[in-house]
Amino acid sequence: MATAAVEEQELDPSLPACVNLISAILAMEPSDLVISHARACGGGSITESVQKFIWDHCLSTPGDFYAPYLKIFLKKLISEVEFDHGYVLDYLYELYAQYMTSFKDDSFGKRDTRVCKRISYIFPDGCSELQSKQHSRALVFTLQCSLNMLEGDTGCSIWPSSLFLSELILSHPKLFSNKSCFEIGSGVGLVGLCLAHVKASKVILSDGDLSTLANMKFNLELNHLNIETDMPQGSENPIMVKCMHLPWESTSESQLQDIVPDVVLGADVIYDPVCLPHLVRVLAILLNRTKSDSCKPENGDACDESVGRCKVVYNGRADGKSKEAPVAYIAYVIRNIETFDYFLSLAKQANLDIMDLSDSLKPLNLLRYMQSYNQTHVKLLSITCSNRVMGA
Ligand SMILES: C[S@@+](CC[C@H](N)C(=O)[O-])C[C@H]1O[C@@H](n2cnc3c(N)ncnc32)[C@H](O)[C@@H]1O
Repeated sequence: MATAAVEEQELDPSLPACVNLISAILAMEPSDLVISHARACGGGSITESVQKFIWDHCLSTPGDFYAPYLKIFLKKLISEVEFDHGYVLDYLYELYAQYMTSFKDDSFGKRDTRVCKRISYIFPDGCSELQSKQHSRALVFTLQCSLNMLEGDTGCSIWPSSLFLSELILSHPKLFSNKSCFEIGSGVGLVGLCLAHVKASKVILSDGDLSTLANMKFNLELNHLNIETDMPQGSENPIMVKCMHLPWESTSESQLQDIVPDVVLGADVIYDPVCLPHLVRVLAILLNRTKSDSCKPENGDACDESVGRCKVVYNGRADGKSKEAPVAYIAYVIRNIETFDYFLSLAKQANLDIMDLSDSLKPLNLLRYMQSYNQTHVKLLSITCSNRVMGA
């Protein structure tokens, strides 16, 4: 038997448990995980205050959410409260009844449905230099994603490694601010949004899949990065954001000749052994770049495109200024150790130096509410080119 409704105090939305709960719903975390946040808000049970809080902040404006997701969440919420013999607010029952009649199909996630997830980065107190311009403790990006993880050659979903790189960029902005950044296999574009946020001087995102590229452009516009004019809306400082179609297999040196990145990024790109020789070749080209001299053979050394090997004078720039050697940050989750070892051996053949930074360069935990993501499962490599000829 449900107990009668009793007056309870409203929850303070700035309480960490409440921030976690709302952020988890906005990011469309699985219902079970959202329920655990709801319980944390109510000191262990989903009280009426917690239900009202959820109603006020999410359910009263259901148009902002993907209704089949809310339907599943509401079902779980109601059954948990009933299981505890608690009191379910009437309007939650009413909304669930509406969903029952409107959305009879329960095949949530089985089709190539696109949904908008909102990813909130919650900054710890005292990290003012990391926070968004609005002086809020949270920075939120909206990303259109597919519920089918394989859609767009896997590029229309958010993978753990891009969550990791996004936290890394926001935690260590100085590594990326005022730097020319180039990302390979960019997927939904989350890393690019973070690079623009920390004011990279240039952001170039790329992917080999055309539907992923279209979705990425949509996401940049959704978050007010105007890719046509390269100007973020309402900003006085132009930040260059470009999207490139870049299948690694067919990418030539001449296609990349104008790209001189300081930083190359890649998230969850080491998984398909067939693509790895091409990926390593692209990395070697990008890490060998020089502004004035795009990988011209020197002293009779021929450029070997097959493994991306070529000697260039990196510091001998036409303007006489030296430039730090480019570095790649690659975040990855090991799913198959043989594939990863194959990547390492190809990188060695291409004279790329690899360092495991997993223990030395860690991001802050800015996605603490996202229990479906475990930062410690993601590893970080830095890659540099060892056979550059340093300038005279
Ligand atoms: C697992 S997803 C990772 C997406 C994104 N970086 C993330 O972590 O959320 C791999 C990405 O690499 C891209 N990709 C895979 N093979 C590629 C290739 N041969 N050339 C270019 N891009 C490729 C896919 O289109 C996809 O966007």
